[in-house]
This record gives sequence, structure tokens and C-alpha cells, in this order.
Amino acid sequence: MRIILIGPPGAGKGTQCQRLVDYLRVPHLSTGEMLRAAVRAGTAEGLAAAHFMAQGQLVPDPMILGLVTKRLEAADCRDGCLLDGFPRTLPQAAMLDDLLDCRAMSVDGVIELAVPRDELVHRMLARKREDDNPEIFAKRIASFEVQTAPLLDYYKRQGKLASIDGLGTADEIFNRVREALRRLKRDSYQG
Ligand code: AP5
Ligand code: MG
Repeated sequence: MRIILIGPPGAGKGTQCQRLVDYLRVPHLSTGEMLRAAVRAGTAEGLAAAHFMAQGQLVPDPMILGLVTKRLEAADCRDGCLLDGFPRTLPQAAMLDDLLDCRAMSVDGVIELAVPRDELVHRMLARKREDDNPEIFAKRIASFEVQTAPLLDYYKRQGKLASIDGLGTADEIFNRVREALRRLKRDSYQG
């Protein structure tokens, strides 16, 4: 299965993907993690991305597309993958569709983790990632609302969206994620 997790910063995309990796037995592709690894390694891509990430802005689409294309072509992604934090803009979503289409593949389902802003801020304050400070976090949330939220409608129109409540314990949310996956599977069989 090829599943996308969408949600604002701190929604729990990474947390749920850690559980889904064992459940679905497919690799976890987080563009945020890939970028942080590139920054740590000091690659040209990392150096170029660091400035945007530190400002809470999205890294330009072409840079992301390069990273993701390489990764999606790897053998371990042949039977599926979990996409966390990608796509994040409509052009990225269109590019993903093209990329998969050329290989007779497609996105099977999109899970939205909906979490109120107060809780996101609370989670962010409890964590210590470099881009987790109130000012930058507000920019990341704004970027989600303006650039990424339109993807919800994009996938809803394709009948691929399952929106779930992202409040509760990580295990409670994982149960909802599994239920959403079952629903998506059932609906896709029924056409
Ligand atoms: P990215 O790494 O994707 O960050 P993000 O979207 O801001 O999301 P986070 O990783 O902060 O949150 P999450 O939803 O994964 O939640 P988590 O499970 O960690 O992107 C970082 C930057 O990279 C972007 O700003 C951008 O610059 C760039 N970038 C990345 N992808 C890009 C793309 N496609 N295009 C352009 N630029 C891109 O949980 C958060 C915290 O809450 C954790 O401490 C966790 O322990 C805790 N938590 C999780 N679940 C619960 C729960 N149920 N209850 C209480 N606490 C919980
Ligand atoms: Mg994450």
C-alpha cells in the first residue's frame, strides 16, 4: 500500500508512521527526516535546504522532488511506502501522481491527522527540535494551512481521504488509523 499521512506540524505523522512500518511492512519516507539527514551530512542539498527549514518555510519543490524520486525508485518501495510530510503542495501532489503513473502505481489512501492548534503548540513546547520554537512553529502552521491544506480537497475528490481525530494517546490514534485503512481498502474494492 502507498499511504500518505497529512497533518500540521506536531500532528503525530512520524509517531504513527513508526507504528505503521511494522503493521504494513513498508518503509517510512519522511521528507523532513531526509532533509535533516542531508543538513547533518553537510551535502549541497542540505546546505540549500537548511535556510528554509530554519525559517519554517517549505523547501522549494524541485529540491524535494529530487530527494523523493530517488527514494521511491529504490527496491524496498516497490510494494508500497508510507509518505510522511510529502506531498505538501499541489505541484508536489501532481508530480507524485505522474511519477507513480509512469510505473503503473498509485496512491492508495491519504490519512489526515486533525489536531487543534493549542495541542500542537503544547506538543511542540515539550519537544526540542531545532525548528520547534514558538515563532518558527507559527510559520510552519501557517505554511500547512496555506500550502498543504488544499491537498485535503484534492484527495477527497479522488475518494482517497480518511480524516481522523488526532487527539488522544498514540495507541488510541493508531487504532483509528488502522480502522481508516480498513475503510479505505473496503471502499477501493467497491470502486
Ligand atoms: P517535517 O519534519 O515534516 O515536520 P512537520 O510537518 O512540521 O511535522 P513534525 O515532524 O514536527 O510533526 P509530526 O506530525 O511528525 O509529529 P510527531 O510524530 O513528531 O518538516 C520539517 C521541515 O522540513 C518543514 O518545515 C520544511 O521546511 C521541510 N520540508 C519537509 N518536507 C517538505 C516538503 N515535502 N516540501 C517542502 N519542504 C519540506 O509528534 C510531535 C510531538 O508530539 C512529538 O514529541 C511526539 O512525541 C508527540 N506526540 C505524538 N503523538 C502524540 C499524542 N497522540 N499525544 C501527545 N503527544 C504526541
Ligand atoms: Mg515528523
